[in-house]
Order: sequence, then structure tokens, then C-alpha cells
Amino acid sequence: MLLVFGSINLDIAFHGDRLPAPGETVLARSWHISPGGKGANQAHAAQRYGLATRLVGAVGDDAFADQALTLLRSAGVGLDALQRLPGPTGCAGIVVDARGENQIVVAPGVNLDLRASHVSETLLSQAKAVLLQMECDAQQNQALIERAKAQGCRVLLNNAPARALTQDGLRALDVLIVNLIELDATARRDGIALADAPTQVRELARRHALTVVLTLGAQGVLASASGEPLLRLPALPVPVADTTGAGDTFAGVFAAALVEQLSLRDALVRGIVAAGLACTRAGAQRSQPDRAEIEAAMQGYVAA
Ligand code: RIB
Repeated sequence: MLLVFGSINLDIAFHGDRLPAPGETVLARSWHISPGGKGANQAHAAQRYGLATRLVGAVGDDAFADQALTLLRSAGVGLDALQRLPGPTGCAGIVVDARGENQIVVAPGVNLDLRASHVSETLLSQAKAVLLQMECDAQQNQALIERAKAQGCRVLLNNAPARALTQDGLRALDVLIVNLIELDATARRDGIALADAPTQVRELARRHALTVVLTLGAQGVLASASGEPLLRLPALPVPVADTTGAGDTFAGVFAAALVEQLSLRDALVRGIVAAGLACTRAGAQRSQPDRAEIEAAMQGYVAA
């Protein structure tokens, strides 16, 4: 079982030709409301891939709460430890341009009230791996990471949005997943500022004896395990409609494939293919593929 500890949001997305500049109003062509949040998206991706997944997250006491849970429920994500807390459900405002690029602003609401203590020892002991992101309280993440390590559980952190990680925090991880902005923020904090991205990946992985995975969108993925030579894998070539949640799809499916004991390379390939498929449709969770679609698309990826 994969345990995801993280945020649940309701996404309000606007699709238009271009993103607004500061102070500018632009007209969108369409809008939609759908479930999101990095934690929820990653849990949904893993469950759709076919791995039993449980999400510990929080929704508020408002009208958004149940809407934010609809796709998690229909996919069968385990929600028995879900918290309903007083306050607003997390909400994201998303603008998507004609190329599928986006800008996102998140009001975390009760996601910031999620506590490591909401994960019982019994639940943690059943998890093969724990996957976290940074839309919740960083100290609560750290507390859960330490408990997970003590239980011998594999720990994966997607440092998104990027926060400062201490050396102890990095050392406690098995896998760190970042995009370019998040890699640079993490590496600078660790004193690796004036290096290119491949060097930062390898050096972070070597220093902290962990696997670092850098997601590069259309350029694919770079990864290094404990400073070993870089693995470079291309993206799935697809017509891009919306990149919202593509990184979450990657993280959820990659983590699920590791729990299935696939090799690093094979797990990365599944995450890449799933993320590529998610980019062909609008929305975060609602764009995520199931296992059959991922496996069918992998034939094309391997042959490429
Ligand atoms: O990564 C995409 C997600 O970021 C969106 O679903 C939004 O809710 C924000 O958390």
C-alpha cells in the first residue's frame, strides 16, 4: 500500500489564449471546476495505476469539501483517515494558455491544519512507502518522515512548491522529486548554487545518499541514485492540451511502480508515460490515465 500525506484542493481553471501579465485582464474561452491538490492528485494517479493507495489529507466544512473528493472516491482511494476540519477547503486558481502552460495560485485553507498525528501508527505500519509534497505544513511533513523512517518505510518527497529542506531532512529521504525551479531552490539551500542542473542532481543524490529525480516537462526526466551516473529518459511525445497536474501524475505513478518493486528505470518510464497522457486532456485528476492506457502507450514509448 502507498500512503500519500498531502493536500486536497478544488481547482477553478480558466482556459484562454495566453496568461495574464501583472495588472492585466484577459478573457478566457472556457472554465471548469474539478478536484485537485498535489496530494490528492498523486494519490489518485497511483490508485488509477492500480496500486492500493490511501490518502491522509484534510477538507474543510464548506461546500467545496465534497466536490474536492468526488474523483478520489470514484477511483477507490482509501479515505478512512480523511480529516474534516473547521475552515475552508483548499482552493487553486489556475490559468491555462493555448500551449497548455499554466499559472497556479493556491489558498491552502485547512491543508495547513493537517497533522502528522492524523496518521496512526497502525496505518503507517501498513504502508510500503509514504509520498509527501509541500502544500501542507513543512514541520508536519518532517515529523511524519521521521516516523516513517523509524518504521523502515520508503519515503518520497515531491518538494513542490519548493521549500527549504535541512540537511537532516534531505538525509531522511529515499527519493526527492523536483522540477527545475524546485531543484535550484533545494540545491542552493544545500550550498550547490553555481552548477548546472545535471550536476546539482548528481551532487544532491551523492551527498545525501538518495535518489533525485528531476522532471523537465517536454525534455523528459533526469535521475541519479546516490550520485550514480545520470539516467536520462525522454518525454512521451504528445499533443499538449493542459500540463496541470502532470508532475503529480508522474510522482503518483512513479511511487506506485516503486512500491511494486520495479527498477528505478522502469518506474520512471511508467511515470513519464502516465504524465504524457495526462497532458493530452484538461484538468488534474480528471486527466489521469488508468493502468491499461499507460501500458498501451508504453509500447509506443519503448519503440521510439
Ligand atoms: O500540481 C497541480 C495542482 O497544484 C493543482 O491541482 C492545484 O490544486 C495545485 O495544488
